[in-house]
Amino acid sequence: MCYAIPAKVIKIKGLIAIVDYFGEKRKILLDLDDIKVGDYVYAQGGILVRKIPQEEALIILEAWKDIFLELQKTDAALSQLDQSQFSQNALAVLQKVNLRKSLNQSEMKTLFELEDLQELSVLYEIANHVRQREHGNACCIHGIIEFSNYCTNNCYYCGIRKDSAIQRYRMDVNEVISVAKHAVDEYGFKALVLQSGEDYWYDEKKLVEVVKAIRAMGVLVFLSIGSRDQALYQKLYDVGARACLLRFETSNEALFDKLRPGTTLKDRVDLIKAIKKMGYVLATGFIIGLPGATLDDLINDILLTRYLMPDMYSFGPLIPTKGTPLANCPMVSKELVLKTIAVSRFVDSNANILVTTALETLEPGAKREGLMGGANSLMINVTPARYRDLYNIYDNKAGNEDSINNNIQKTLELLKSLGRAPTDLGVH
Ligand code: 5AD
Ligand code: SF4
Repeated sequence: MCYAIPAKVIKIKGLIAIVDYFGEKRKILLDLDDIKVGDYVYAQGGILVRKIPQEEALIILEAWKDIFLELQKTDAALSQLDQSQFSQNALAVLQKVNLRKSLNQSEMKTLFELEDLQELSVLYEIANHVRQREHGNACCIHGIIEFSNYCTNNCYYCGIRKDSAIQRYRMDVNEVISVAKHAVDEYGFKALVLQSGEDYWYDEKKLVEVVKAIRAMGVLVFLSIGSRDQALYQKLYDVGARACLLRFETSNEALFDKLRPGTTLKDRVDLIKAIKKMGYVLATGFIIGLPGATLDDLINDILLTRYLMPDMYSFGPLIPTKGTPLANCPMVSKELVLKTIAVSRFVDSNANILVTTALETLEPGAKREGLMGGANSLMINVTPARYRDLYNIYDNKAGNEDSINNNIQKTLELLKSLGRAPTDLGVH
């Protein structure tokens, strides 16, 4: 099982290397010493994470070669545009997209207001076409380990909020490391997201130990540990963490204050900016469908995400969850999430857009629609079965009923049917 195709370094310019995947070139950051032109490497999130021996690389590349060309063909065929009937307004907006011009708020609104299913399917096709134009068939796949469901916060939407009467668990340092090792050795992941509630039992010393050990496995260490101190994030960067997932959740300040008691939007955004400045690969975004959020708020959410210049957009629908103050909120429509993916793809055409488990939870099969509507990245849960149901930030999380192996298999089949390949997306 292999989650990344090796790349060959063909040029080095300062800290940037140009690498080649079967003729496709990408730029990546050199984050290891001693890399030369001609070396074979794995890259994740635009960062070189591991050098691999030539003999090993050639065997893997040989195994991928024909598959890769097939995948490319499938992806190209699925990204063709059909001519179709469109309302005049939407047509004018999409013409701008075609000319690579940025959309303003009212143009974004025009697209969100489309309702005709025929028109929507063309909207998604165009988003998929732009994704293909910008990224080819590259798709990044990260493993996610949910290592603690303790949290000091009380976000209204979240099933593991402090006041939730749930069974808590926390892996100790050695357990996180051994779960990560299993994900790397057995399943072949090259990037691991370490996610938890905001759990201060995990102090600097423990997190440093975890990050160092996992970085030494030759993978991208991706943190998702909440609003911890800047100094802690800096320290973890210094010992090898290179990516960070931190959503601002909503750009509406009043809503933020209400739904995330004791925290402020300004602090959150400042922290996200600081993390980006430290050099982390940044994933950020928001929740769609929080009670009281309007279409203007959603448009502002997309614009705030773009303003933060993330390497990856991460947003998903609110899943109303038992035992939380938002348990009785209405479900968000799948179309609203798909429109958000498409519009995000148009306003930031070379963005990496994650299709989240929450979308698949909304409706089985929606992950495929997200990938066919502008998204190009996903995560697979590799948390051991004994903990997975306890990490219920929301109810009925898709994939929890299946084993890790089955989830991986299903994801690979899905990506194969869509013609996507696990080459790195590079940096721009
Ligand atoms: N529905 C959807 N997403 C949620 N999150 C937390 N609770 C929910 C919910 N009920 C998201 C938040 C957080 C991420 C880890 O999970 O956006 O940043
Ligand atoms: Fe804690 Fe994050 Fe849930 Fe908020 S969303 S309660 S910070 S785990």
